[in-house]
Amino acid sequence: MNIRVFEHDMQAAQAAAFLLASQILEKPDSVLALPTGSTPVPVYKELAHLTASGILDWSRVTTFNLDEYLGLAADDEQSYHHFMHEQLFSKINMRPEQIHILDGMAADPEAECLAYERAIRGAGGIDLAFLGIGRNGHIGFNEPTEIMSAMTHVVDLTAETLADNARFFTKNQKQPTQAMSMGIGTIMQARQIVLVATGGGKARAVRQMICGSMDPQIPASILQIHKSVTIFLDRAAAAALKANCD
Ligand code: PGA
Repeated sequence: MNIRVFEHDMQAAQAAAFLLASQILEKPDSVLALPTGSTPVPVYKELAHLTASGILDWSRVTTFNLDEYLGLAADDEQSYHHFMHEQLFSKINMRPEQIHILDGMAADPEAECLAYERAIRGAGGIDLAFLGIGRNGHIGFNEPTEIMSAMTHVVDLTAETLADNARFFTKNQKQPTQAMSMGIGTIMQARQIVLVATGGGKARAVRQMICGSMDPQIPASILQIHKSVTIFLDRAAAAALKANCD
């Protein structure tokens, strides 16, 4: 694991954006996996800025989002479809047919997951998976579990994840308790992985991911055996790390 620690969260986000940008510059038809949440927001802002500056061209890029809530339509303000449009896709020149996000309203979610896997394979697999990490160590919505799911699947969200994400929902909006998520195996098959974690709330999960034993209860710990992982942290998220994981 290549671990890079920055003083401030914005610096970590900018460095991650630069790595994503270099992937697109090197391979203009890159296939990317993309996250949602608070952490990627400044990364997407920097990517939008690089695009507006004429440095990045997304016309041949293909994207697959990591997850979507079950039961939320694409035009629902709380859906990850909506988030991605607001934070990134409305600001870059992606071709709409090359944007893939699981359909939260699919009549048959299991079939939707299978079709998603097929589409990822059809695109040639993922070149770079950009990830966040949950306080419980999840990546995508791969929650702590006994046995990890390799492929895209339906998942029951844990109490911790529901509590963490409750901040995005108003009193009148029903928070979904299930989602669909790209599986751990599909993420691990990405040729390169970039993970960003910022803030002290992530310090424990970051330490477990990097220094703990590989454990499905800390899904991100599996990244220890990926051959190309870069982790961007701010000082707060790195606070529980010591030299050599002592
Ligand atoms: P966050 O979520 O960026 O909103 O903290 C990260 C995640 O759950 O992967």
